[in-house]
Amino acid sequence: MDEPADNSTSKPSDNLSLPTGDGVVLDIGTGDGLFVYACARENPKKFYIGIDANPRPLEKISEKIHRKASKGGLPNVLFLQSSVEDLPSELNGVADEVHVHFPWGSLLRAVATGDNEVLQNLRRVCSAGALLEVVIGLDSERDRTEMVRLGLETISAAHIDSVLVSRYEDAGFEVLETGALPASEWSRLQTSWAKRLKGNVNRTLFYIVARAAGVVR
Ligand SMILES: C[S@@+](CC[C@H](N)C(=O)[O-])C[C@H]1O[C@@H](n2cnc3c(N)ncnc32)[C@H](O)[C@@H]1O
Repeated sequence: MDEPADNSTSKPSDNLSLPTGDGVVLDIGTGDGLFVYACARENPKKFYIGIDANPRPLEKISEKIHRKASKGGLPNVLFLQSSVEDLPSELNGVADEVHVHFPWGSLLRAVATGDNEVLQNLRRVCSAGALLEVVIGLDSERDRTEMVRLGLETISAAHIDSVLVSRYEDAGFEVLETGALPASEWSRLQTSWAKRLKGNVNRTLFYIVARAAGVVR
């Protein structure tokens, strides 16, 4: 019988290792995945996971990342179909950064009202000290129907500071910064919805940047 292989002499480069050296980044409500794809190309040592409840927009990009590198394939990305309400436990504690850009539907309701259960889900996938960035873009005229459907009041900087900050803190985040993003800065956000919405001067972009506290309260 052959002896079992002695792995103790293998070099690190012999092992299958995902390129997570500089951290793991989750993008929740990733849509067509443009943000994670663009970032993954720029940061080959980070590992990106794009997550969306809807499998449709994930189809094209999920196929593309598995192509040869010369045809757009990337080894440091994967896409996952999951709602934020039901993030798989395998993701617990893995994220160094979590992004939520231009949420809609139940994801918008959760981050814009500070829903404790969903915020705790976001905290659960974070490692201690991980950064959470939430960017909400609403046009109170055009989006009125959806806002009423979701039971949302108008989002404002004052509402974020007076109501949301403490809700994020209750879920285990320390809020570092809140504010409104001027239209001139939108182009920094490499997402399909940032591109789609940037011409609308009536749309205000609010952001919340928070850090996962060491101990979940
Ligand atoms: C307006 S799109 C934004 C997509 C992308 N982040 C961007 O900026 O281009 C909102 C996305 O949130 C997703 N979404 C809505 N509710 C969700 C939930 N509960 N969990 C996960 N994703 C959700 C939708 O399927 C949709 O793809």
